[in-house]
Amino acid sequence: MPDKEQNPRRRVLSGMRPTGKLHLGNYVGALQNWVKLQHTYSCFFFVADWHALTTDYDETSRLADHTLEVVVDFLAAGLDPEKCAIFVQSHVRQHAELHLLFSMITPLGWLERVPTYKEQQLQMPNKDLHMYGFLGYPLLQSADILIYQPDFVPVGEDQAAHIELTREVARRFNQFYKLEGKPVLPEPQILLTPSPKLLGTDKRKMSKSYGNSILLSDEAAVVEEKIKNSVTDRPKLSDRGSPERCPVGNLHQIFSDRERLAYITQGCTQATITCVECKALAVPSVNAHLAPIRERRRDLAQNPGKLQKIIQHGAEKATQAAEETMVAVRQSMGLLQLGSTKDLTMTGTDAPPLRSPESIGNAKTDEERRDIRVATWLERVNKTHPLRKDKREIFITRKGRKVGVHASAEQDRAWNFEFENPPVNVLVLLAEDKDGYLHPYVLPPKFLQKHWQFGGRADSWIRKIDGIAMLSVGAHNESIQEYESDYTALQ
Ligand code: TRP
Ligand code: SF4
Repeated sequence: MPDKEQNPRRRVLSGMRPTGKLHLGNYVGALQNWVKLQHTYSCFFFVADWHALTTDYDETSRLADHTLEVVVDFLAAGLDPEKCAIFVQSHVRQHAELHLLFSMITPLGWLERVPTYKEQQLQMPNKDLHMYGFLGYPLLQSADILIYQPDFVPVGEDQAAHIELTREVARRFNQFYKLEGKPVLPEPQILLTPSPKLLGTDKRKMSKSYGNSILLSDEAAVVEEKIKNSVTDRPKLSDRGSPERCPVGNLHQIFSDRERLAYITQGCTQATITCVECKALAVPSVNAHLAPIRERRRDLAQNPGKLQKIIQHGAEKATQAAEETMVAVRQSMGLLQLGSTKDLTMTGTDAPPLRSPESIGNAKTDEERRDIRVATWLERVNKTHPLRKDKREIFITRKGRKVGVHASAEQDRAWNFEFENPPVNVLVLLAEDKDGYLHPYVLPPKFLQKHWQFGGRADSWIRKIDGIAMLSVGAHNESIQEYESDYTALQ
């Protein structure tokens, strides 16, 4: 069963390099969209600090500050750490591990042909970019993405080639390596973020390096100053202009209400208003939008511990998700898992028999005893087959399979299990014998499909006949001996 059905909230991942304080172009071209997405999707947003090192490896004195500034801008803009994982790339070491593993299967030609590779080198002629890290930039990005198995990656057009490479890397990985015959890394889709046009105050593209930006963190008076000093297109009042090609016009297009935008558009194109008036109208439009952002920024500044907690929490959430993928990646690539030799014998048929704890005698109700048996079994099996708790007696495997676990004590060489028609992929029946030993029968999907399609009786029995465990479900009776302690269905 595909993971999606179990996990209706689809995943979104995106990242930004730590360029320092973000400007309005970064905001309307990405961040504002992320803030909307967090209400619909399970989101992962991060600051790509390792990526900054691919070009700025020789000047890192401001890297940590810039990283922090971007996190603060994320939060000020309205990303909610309760709703999404907000984190710093270098805090989740698994990205680097996956990048390394990808480097084993990625042809150099794929990286050399990514258009940004040549373009960036041309843009920075004074920088020595003959470094592996720079060539590997988009491969690290592929690892950033695929490690979260996202459905969508919201980015601007400039990142399209990187997402395409990511999909190719996933395809190649899945061709080489599989788990139980199935691909490990789903191909994500690009979610192209439409980026409204926003010129810098000097009419060139808004960019940090041109010093022509309005920052998300600028105070109201600074915003006013920058707008009033913006370069516009109408030297004489009688000149007609075009808001499309004017930094102030662009601000109206993004931040003014319809009425005001119509007024200045008419006034500019018909030469009936002055640029001074137009600018004076843009100031409150922009500042009204930035007011709640300033409010959240002030709140953060007053709680210095809060920011650290958010970053820590984000790293933990992201690490957990990333590690889930890495367990599957390592296993599919054939790497020896730490501790797996011991654990294999612990859950294999040679494992010492598992016994219910003495404390089970103190349990007051049948239900409590059942819970103790399940917990005992779970503790052992979790070492090799991590299960997440979903609800009582239902657990989820790493790959999203639902596992129902039921326990029963022996009565006259028989065990009775009562449960609803199991909405699970794998059913584990724990039969506790007279001596307190637990015998797990791990019934795989194909067994369940065969037996629960007719009627789905809730009442089942295991009986031992000549030492062979037989399961009866309604009128159907079949040996389940081969499934005793066979954990392959939990992989
Ligand atoms: N390369 C992206 C940029 O320059 C930043 C980035 C790094 C990224 N890793 C990512 C974006 C993963 C999306 C997904 O904007
Ligand atoms: Fe720009 Fe407004 Fe002047 Fe037109 S009227 S050129 S939009 S500032």
